[in-house]
Amino acid sequence: MRFPESSSFQGKLLRWIKGSMGKAFRIAVNNPLLNSAAAWCGADPLLCRLHHQWVGRNFNPAKSLQENVGFSHREDVEAALSKVHGTLWSFACGNLEEGASILDLGSGTGLIAKRMSSRFKIVGIDISEELTRVARKENPQCEFHVGDFLSFECGSDFALIYSIGVLMYFPPSRLRLFFERAHEVLRPGGYLFLQYSHALKRSDLWFPDISSIKYSPAIVERCAAEFFKIEAHHHSFFEEKIVQDYDRDPFPMDSFVNGYLLIARRP
Ligand SMILES: C[S@@+](CC[C@H](N)C(=O)[O-])C[C@H]1O[C@@H](n2cnc3c(N)ncnc32)[C@H](O)[C@@H]1O
Repeated sequence: MRFPESSSFQGKLLRWIKGSMGKAFRIAVNNPLLNSAAAWCGADPLLCRLHHQWVGRNFNPAKSLQENVGFSHREDVEAALSKVHGTLWSFACGNLEEGASILDLGSGTGLIAKRMSSRFKIVGIDISEELTRVARKENPQCEFHVGDFLSFECGSDFALIYSIGVLMYFPPSRLRLFFERAHEVLRPGGYLFLQYSHALKRSDLWFPDISSIKYSPAIVERCAAEFFKIEAHHHSFFEEKIVQDYDRDPFPMDSFVNGYLLIARRP
């Protein structure tokens, strides 16, 4: 005997229970109290790993290369992306020789590498195997590695490292290590071009979501200044805007527009 109505209702109920339990579990293990305590005692890499959005990420062929790295085609996102990509391109052309060796940190599907490799030698590193497979296919002229930037040997002596929308996936207790590694792989006089999501409210300073951290520009600058000479540090879309600990007047939508840009030089 079959009960199609009831079984589909049961199926829906089961899925709902499973989904709600998963959500409840994630909320229970991803909250400001636990995340700040873990950051304080250096256990946050474990939490970051648990919530990591990219490690096992599958490429969705129905979506664009841009959507597959989490950026929509909404007007505000497109405007902010094109501003950051344009700033990177002019910065690199204005400061580096043609053919200079550049590291694309968090290269994703190789969107930025495509344009940059028309003038420079691009090496990419990304933690996602599948996105890197796509990046390689799209950019056979570039070299791509799969690995965690903090531990993987991706080469050294780079004239520039650029990293767009990636810092948010590094644990707070490893922020200093991030800049130490960047310093290690750059040649003396090399540049770091770092775009990141910055804190938009006071509560962001307590890491409410460890899977996507909005860092305070003041803290980022303090860590970077240990290894680099800061050349510029300002909002990545509204260049004249300077934020200290968190943004008191953010763009209303949670969007790529809310980003910050650090340009620093290895002494
Ligand atoms: C929002 S996407 C940005 C991709 C690319 N930068 C762009 O703008 O098109 C973030 C990327 O960072 C990568 N990523 C996250 N944590 C990483 C890590 N520890 N080491 C290397 N790559 C990482 C992810 O796999 C993902 O491709």
